[in-house]
Amino acid sequence: MPFTANRAFKKAPVLFASAEGMHYKTPEGRSVLDGTSGLWCVNAGHARQPILAAVRQQLAELDYAPGFQTGHPQAFAAARAVAARMPAGLDRIFFANSGSEAVDSALKIALAYHRADGQAQRTRLIGRERGYHGVGFGGISVGGLGANRQAFSGNLLPSVDHLPHTYDAERQRHSRGQPAWGAHLADELERRIALHGAHTIAAVIVEPVAGSAGVLVPPAGYLARLREITRRHGILLIFDEVITGFGRLGAPTASAYFDVTPDLITLAKGISNAVVPAGAVAVRREIHDTILDAAPDGAIEFAHGYTYSGHPLAAAAIQATLALYDEEELYARAGMLATDFELAVHRLDDAPHVQDVRNLGLMAGIDLAPRDGEPGARGRAVFQGCFERGVLVRYTGDTIALSPPLIAEPGQIEEIVRTLRSVLDGLA
Ligand SMILES: Cc1ncc(COP(=O)(O)O)c(C=O)c1O
Repeated sequence: MPFTANRAFKKAPVLFASAEGMHYKTPEGRSVLDGTSGLWCVNAGHARQPILAAVRQQLAELDYAPGFQTGHPQAFAAARAVAARMPAGLDRIFFANSGSEAVDSALKIALAYHRADGQAQRTRLIGRERGYHGVGFGGISVGGLGANRQAFSGNLLPSVDHLPHTYDAERQRHSRGQPAWGAHLADELERRIALHGAHTIAAVIVEPVAGSAGVLVPPAGYLARLREITRRHGILLIFDEVITGFGRLGAPTASAYFDVTPDLITLAKGISNAVVPAGAVAVRREIHDTILDAAPDGAIEFAHGYTYSGHPLAAAAIQATLALYDEEELYARAGMLATDFELAVHRLDDAPHVQDVRNLGLMAGIDLAPRDGEPGARGRAVFQGCFERGVLVRYTGDTIALSPPLIAEPGQIEEIVRTLRSVLDGLA
């Protein structure tokens, strides 16, 4: 199983048999409140009929059409639907099937752009410590999670560097929303530029809010400063919005939320409400046009793509999902709910074992003190305790992450936090 302690799982399997709205059901019929939107992806809640109906209808009409040299109208309609929700100018869409594929596609687009623009020497990619960009070799190379990289360290992409992460417990602990301290950490990019030369750097990729590392919220002003430095040096800025895209912060994108527009945005998860696997890259039009214009007439301009890029079922799910988000005004709802959510999660600030609570939008990270000699054990115990009491939370090591669906009722937020509190209160 992916990212799972397989032997431990076999001994005590955690299984879900069905889901609807805010709840999963276990095979025994027990209801579990979804505090994590599955894996940060079921933003509109489970089994939403308009999405399921659109997928069913698509299945009856066209199961599959090749995406190489042929196409089908729904893929283009889905691309228009995605583009309409992106910041102005990022209106060219390349489809993939996951966040990892979206990231690798975006990195290749960045390299292809510079080559087409006559700057083929710009090959260096810069990620950030504690960044998660999926599990392709591109993604783990720019990613900054040691456990995901070290087993493959001999085979990572060459010409990659990393910025420092933006978390400092002493200065940021128990921040509500964006920490005030840390914008200057963006200036580390200037040091990387001084070291390598801007003319060798293709792109910087960051998650606007680092999700998988435990919800690391960018310091106020940090992203704007990264944007300013990258623009000044002709370096492309990629925001990995696989988690933050489509409402998590109460806006269509984190780019819109922070009012910082990158050159490329990677998307997945909430793009299809996870009904059909899907991912995408939104690309600034000039980047797209430069790549196309540089190729001879009749040539394939970008030698990259997947058998299932723009798959009809994904295209149908994407359109229905994005329409549902609009119809139910879920981004605005998430924005309003975020205030209750912040108040609720920070009631855990003084809970036993809690070292830090961080939040933005409908994302929160809660660091627990590790047990002596048993890192991760306390996180696992909290997960298990919550599951037994009917609430799904996520844990990585000793960090608990919360990311409820955008349809959550305030009472359900309370239930998630109350359950966490009671588990922590009773925990060794
Ligand atoms: C920011 C970010 N990028 C990329 C990915 C990879 O997505 P996937 O698991 O769909 O490949 C994830 C997954 O959690 C993610 O959070």
